[in-house]
Amino acid sequence: MSFKIVEEAPARLNRSELAVPGSSPQMFEKAAKSAADIVFLDLEDAVAPDKKEEARRNVIAALNDIDWGDKTVSVRINGLDTPYMYRDVVDVLEQTGDRLDLIMIPKVGTAADVYAVDMLVSQVEQAKGRKKRVGFELIIETALGMQNVHEIAAASRRNESLHFGVADYAASIRARTVRIGGVHPDYGVLADPDEKGERDYFWADPWHYAIARMVVAARANGLRPVDGPFGDIRDPDGYRAAARRAAVLGCEGKWAIHPFQIELANEIFTPSEAEVERARRILQAMEQAEREGRGAVSLDGRLIDIASIRQARTLVAKADRIAAKAG
Ligand code: GLV
Ligand code: MG
Repeated sequence: MSFKIVEEAPARLNRSELAVPGSSPQMFEKAAKSAADIVFLDLEDAVAPDKKEEARRNVIAALNDIDWGDKTVSVRINGLDTPYMYRDVVDVLEQTGDRLDLIMIPKVGTAADVYAVDMLVSQVEQAKGRKKRVGFELIIETALGMQNVHEIAAASRRNESLHFGVADYAASIRARTVRIGGVHPDYGVLADPDEKGERDYFWADPWHYAIARMVVAARANGLRPVDGPFGDIRDPDGYRAAARRAAVLGCEGKWAIHPFQIELANEIFTPSEAEVERARRILQAMEQAEREGRGAVSLDGRLIDIASIRQARTLVAKADRIAAKAG
């Protein structure tokens, strides 16, 4: 292990993250009652320019009046290059209580972007005597943001998670896409001919590098990596496949841009019973080894390394949070 200790962001469930346009207040109650772990109320791209102020008012009212239960609640502010962002931060923080957990910053390009918002948030928190420190969710969705992702991840102690915003990212790098967060028929490999001269074509994941890079930056800084949107809301199998591959790469969860995607994300990012059971047995074996003064821990005849014990602890803690949420 390195001498550097990686401080972990506050532990929260982040399997499903529901996007709700701030200009659609009729959706707020339903979002509050949904099974989403996190709801973000959007002031950015889901809101047309002539609706920005109204959306901000809606979001402020929702944070004050709606019972969000045990949900983590976030607000996606507008980008730092817009004329809306400072008011998003100041009005939302000045006019709401402690129900707001997170601010989501879109299109982060440099560590200084995070620093700037941190300064503004810190001032309002101090001036208004806000008790709960607001955390940051950062969307990595531009070439610049992806280039600087490591510095961005380390830019503030408020940082909690990095999100892969595939729609804007594709536009920024000028990738060819057919649907948001999906695969592309041109992105694949052609196998050599078999004995009959036939050749298989294997579709591949165009977002592998971007997600993997973001995951490294997030985990190296104790943050949660989260996969962004999947645009085809009529394709649950496509969503599941995208979520599974994000989970394999280390992501904690995925956005839901339609309520029906919430259950899919919760299903895929909830560890299986078999995984949890094995993790509990690893921890029991470790405790028993400690009681017996043995340094080496073994389970079912195999030695268990420290990395597996650490992974088991994380998994069990997560399973316990999921069980607590389910009541
Ligand atoms: C999310 O904001 C995206 O651009 O995918
Ligand atoms: Mg975006």
